[in-house]
Amino acid sequence: MIEVKDLYKAFGENVILNGVGFHLLKGENLGILGKSGSGKSVLTKCIVRLIEPDFGEIKVLGKDILKMSLNELNEIRKDIGYLFQGGALYDSMNVRENLEFPIRRTQMASNKHEVNERVEQALRSVGLLDAINKMPTELSGGMKKRIGLARALILRPKVILYDEPTTGLDSVTSGEISELILKVQEEYNASSIIITHDMKCAKIATDKIKILENGTFLTEGTYDELSKSTDRQIRAFFM
Ligand SMILES: Nc1ncnc2c1ncn2[C@@H]1O[C@H](COP(=O)(O)OP(=O)(O)OP(=O)(O)O)[C@@H](O)[C@H]1O
Ligand SMILES: [Mg+2]
Repeated sequence: MIEVKDLYKAFGENVILNGVGFHLLKGENLGILGKSGSGKSVLTKCIVRLIEPDFGEIKVLGKDILKMSLNELNEIRKDIGYLFQGGALYDSMNVRENLEFPIRRTQMASNKHEVNERVEQALRSVGLLDAINKMPTELSGGMKKRIGLARALILRPKVILYDEPTTGLDSVTSGEISELILKVQEEYNASSIIITHDMKCAKIATDKIKILENGTFLTEGTYDELSKSTDRQIRAFFM
């Protein structure tokens, strides 16, 4: 679903990604752990080309993202759902309008009925159909994350990138969002990258975990495997 090879990105002297590579397989939920500032958000933004890497190769669904025209890029972005770190809802639009926005922008639905269907299905998936007419300011942090997730799902993407889906939430709500990510994987048959510092989320929602440190991946394993590691850098995440 995603293949990244030898990816480099620096901002001035500040080298963020220093030869990153990985594969995301179909149906897999890959967790990426890393300290704050290690480049997790930069990596995900490179995958959808919101940030232009300096060097390397990124294939999404077999296609070379870095060689695409803007038209081709917009086409492939329909297959990629992105849950932004801050939620990134439009404050001046209610929930329904926030969800309709990507559908209209990509002209994915042909009529009003189909637009409604999609909006309602996505809201049902995250258990918030009754928030459809609310404004973002009326939503709690956890609800905003859920609506952000509904918006990421609205185009029924094949790949979903979750950037810190549970940050800032209490432990119970984090657990619920993590379960939701798992449900989405099954319901939408999606493959996902889940960036997180939340070990509970990593435990519940991921099949495999990679740790980003000093611009490259340290290691890879399941939650259970890594939790038993004696390596100091890996242990630090499980304290
Ligand atoms: N557009 C940009 N211009 C310059 N520097 C940037 C830019 N975007 C990110 N950086 C730098 O790249 C580094 C990695 O940032 P990034 O947002 O990827 O961290 P992160 O691993 O997602 O951290 P967090 O866990 O806090 O979200 C930081 O040092 C940041 O200052
Ligand atoms: Mg980040």
